[in-house]
Amino acid sequence: MEKFVIQGGRPLYGSVSVSGAKNAAVAIIPACILSDGVCRIENIPNILDVSSIVRILHQLGADIRMINKSTLEIDCSNIRDYVVPDDLVRKIRASAYFMGALLGKFSKARVSMPGGCDFGVRPIDQHIKGFEALGASVSLVRHGMIDIHAEKLTGSQIYLDVVSVGATVNIMLAAVKAEGLTVIENAAKEPHIVDLANFLNSMGADIMGAGTDVIKIRGVKTLKGTTYSIIPDQIEAGTYMVAAAATGGDVTVHNVIPKHLEAITAKLIELGVDVAEGDDSVRVRRTGQLQKCNIKTMPHPGFPTDLHPPVAVLLALANGTSIINESVWENRFRYVEELRRMGAQVQVDGKIAVFEGVKNLTGACVKCSDLRAGAALVIAGLAAVGTTEIEDIQHIERGYEDIEAKLESLGASIKRVRVKEPSMAKAL
Ligand code: EPU
Repeated sequence: MEKFVIQGGRPLYGSVSVSGAKNAAVAIIPACILSDGVCRIENIPNILDVSSIVRILHQLGADIRMINKSTLEIDCSNIRDYVVPDDLVRKIRASAYFMGALLGKFSKARVSMPGGCDFGVRPIDQHIKGFEALGASVSLVRHGMIDIHAEKLTGSQIYLDVVSVGATVNIMLAAVKAEGLTVIENAAKEPHIVDLANFLNSMGADIMGAGTDVIKIRGVKTLKGTTYSIIPDQIEAGTYMVAAAATGGDVTVHNVIPKHLEAITAKLIELGVDVAEGDDSVRVRRTGQLQKCNIKTMPHPGFPTDLHPPVAVLLALANGTSIINESVWENRFRYVEELRRMGAQVQVDGKIAVFEGVKNLTGACVKCSDLRAGAALVIAGLAAVGTTEIEDIQHIERGYEDIEAKLESLGASIKRVRVKEPSMAKAL
C-alpha cells in the first residue's frame, strides 16, 4: 500500500506533456482481436487500466510485443478462445469491450459483468440492445457471466435510449464485420469514439459519421493489420490545466488537441483563468482570484463528467457560490467528504453540489474513492496550505501515467510513501 504526501501551496510552473488517451486505448486494444494481421499501436499510456486490458488479451492467446514504453505490436490471429477470464474483468469497466470484439470476430463471447469506478448503478442494457439488434442472443449464465452468441451478425438500425460511450464502442466492434449496414442513432461523440473509428477504418473497416449522432457501419469481410497512434488524453490534459489554475501557476500543457479541450477551456476562462491555445498545446495562467461558475456535466461536446471532480477544487476556492450539476452519473460526489476534511464548504443534494468558496484549503489525510476523485484530491493537496496525505492511490494509477514525476517537473512537492500503519484517515 502506498500513499502520496504533498506539501501544498506551491504554484506549478513549466511544461508538461500529455500521454495517450486511456479511454481510446482501452477500446482500441481489444479491437485488435478483429484484425487478421499485426496491429502496431503507438502512444499507449502506461497506466493500470491498460495493463489490465493487455493481460486479458494475452490470456486469451494474443501475441503481444512491447516495442518501447508506449508502443505495442499485437497479433490476435492465434486467439481461439471466446471466454474472458473472470478475475481481471471485475476490476475494469472497459473489459466490456471484449464482448463486442469477440462477438464481432467469432459471433460468440462469454464475459463477466464488468467492474470499474463505483458511481452507482452502471447498466449495460444499451450494449445488450445493440447486440440483440445485430441478431445475437444474450443471457446471464453462471457466476455473473454473460453469454452472447449469434448464428450470423446482420446489420441493423439501433437507437440508443441514453448516449453511452460503452454501448457505442461495443456496437461498433460487433457490427464492423456484420453483414450489411448498421446505423447507430443517438451515438456518443467523444474523441475516443472517433479514434476507435479511425483505427478500425485504418484496418479496412467502413465506418462513417463517428463524432456525430449517427454512425454508419457497412460490414466488411476481413480486417488487416495496421499502424496507429492513439490521440492525446483530453482528461489528463484537463487535469493539469486545472492543477495550474488551482495553484495560481503558469503551465503549458503539450501534446494536446485544443479542440478536445474547449469545454474545460471555456469554464477556466469563466473562472477568471487565462488560457492561450497553441497548435498542439495550451498555456494556463492564473494571477487573480477565481470567480464563481456553474457547471453541468454532459456527453461530448458538453463538459466532461470525468473533469467534474478536478474542477470542483476550483469551485471550492472561487469567490462566491458555484454549482455542479452531475447529469451523467448517479453518484459522483464521493470526493466531497474528503474535500470537506480540507476545509471546503460543499452541500450535496442528489446530483447537485453547491460550493461556497473558501479562501484556502488546508492539508489533511484523505482517501481516493475512484480515479477522478483521486485526481481532485491531488489538485486540492497541491493548492492547500500544509501537508496532504492521500491514500488508495491505486485508483489514480489506473488512469494517470507518471503523475508524480510530471507534477514534480512542474515544481510540486509530491512523494510516494509506503503505508505501514493504519492512517489517521482510517482511525477517524
Ligand atoms: N448507461 C445506461 N445503459 C447502458 C450504458 C450506460 O443507462 O447500457 C448510462 C450510465 O449509467 C450513465 C450514462 O449512460 O449514466 C453514460 O454511461 P457510458 O456508457 O457513456 O459510460 P461508460 O462507457 O461506462 C465511459 C468512460 C468513463 C466516462 C463515461 C462518460 C471508458 C472506459 N469509461 O464510461 O470514464 O465517465 O464514459 O463519459 O471509456 C474515467 O475515465 O474516469 C471514466 C469513468
